[in-house]
Amino acid sequence: MASRLCTPIRLGGAMGLSGKVARPMHLQPSLALYQCIWQQVRSSSNSPMAQGPGNTRKKVTIKSLENLYRKGEPITMMTAHDFPSGYVSEAAGMEMILIGDSLAMTSMGMADTSEITLDEMIMHCRSVSRAASTAFVVGDMPMGSYEVSEEQAVQTAIRLVKEGRVHAVKIEGGQEFAPTIKRIVQAGIPVVAHIGLTPQRQNALGGFRVQGKSTAAAIKVYQDALAIQEAGAFMVVVEAVPAEIAAIITKKLRIATLGIGAGNGCSGQVLVQADMVGNYPPGRFLPKFVKKYGDVWSETLKAIEQYKTEVKSREYPSPEYTYPTTKEVVEEFEKVVSRKD
Ligand code: KIV
Repeated sequence: MASRLCTPIRLGGAMGLSGKVARPMHLQPSLALYQCIWQQVRSSSNSPMAQGPGNTRKKVTIKSLENLYRKGEPITMMTAHDFPSGYVSEAAGMEMILIGDSLAMTSMGMADTSEITLDEMIMHCRSVSRAASTAFVVGDMPMGSYEVSEEQAVQTAIRLVKEGRVHAVKIEGGQEFAPTIKRIVQAGIPVVAHIGLTPQRQNALGGFRVQGKSTAAAIKVYQDALAIQEAGAFMVVVEAVPAEIAAIITKKLRIATLGIGAGNGCSGQVLVQADMVGNYPPGRFLPKFVKKYGDVWSETLKAIEQYKTEVKSREYPSPEYTYPTTKEVVEEFEKVVSRKD
């Protein structure tokens, strides 16, 4: 595509691309032209991701998120775990992108989130942040990176911002982590809390169970929500809570709730990207609340199987996928290599 759109020119005359020929400013090729030429000459499979149409909206900030909340417009959040999954979320116009520790399973093949380390989370945050030119980026604080002390939590949050390049951190826990949230907020880092089902505590909760089903359990979720709001969290993820309970809690709060398995009455929604785009083999267990919007697994499988068939049959690479040379060069080369020393 690039070679059809770009006008091939020679830089530096006979000296080629590396030649340093002085030319007046008005004759200097533009950056776009250089990029164009670079695309043409980069005969390698490791080129950077193409710059897509880009997102023309203004950067999403805490203020613009608050505006959406006030207007009652649902806020959209999607998880991402690397540059492409962040890039596609940005292109789709997600207001918020979460590097959730669910990537331990969906991207790293771990059994649960307890195994993922802060360093690993930071690496994923860095990749996603590069793709999110306008979305508001939130990084999860993994298990073991904030429970020991408030100092530990602040240090973790600072690393996620400085090294992971996120705009805010997410922390699982309610009332018991309110003082921790307060300290992180005091350090100038926005916090998204996470209540209801907190997967990092699955062992203590007796598994991945719906929270807030009884009146007492619903009151506990509500108290958690009030405590983290009081501590200064600017938003809260509410996971696996009956829709009616989550809706009532949402009405009672003055910060936005992001539901995941918590019904339509929340201020916004979040889903795990690998789940909702269908990037998993058939038969995998999915929670009830996940709607499968795509079938990335089947599409990818089909493509790779087709590739295998074509390689085996030598159909790929056909001439249009190869680099030409002249007949003379080939003949001369054959003569050279067939000479007996
Ligand atoms: O880790 C994650 O992806 C999350 C979402 C489920 C909210 O915390």
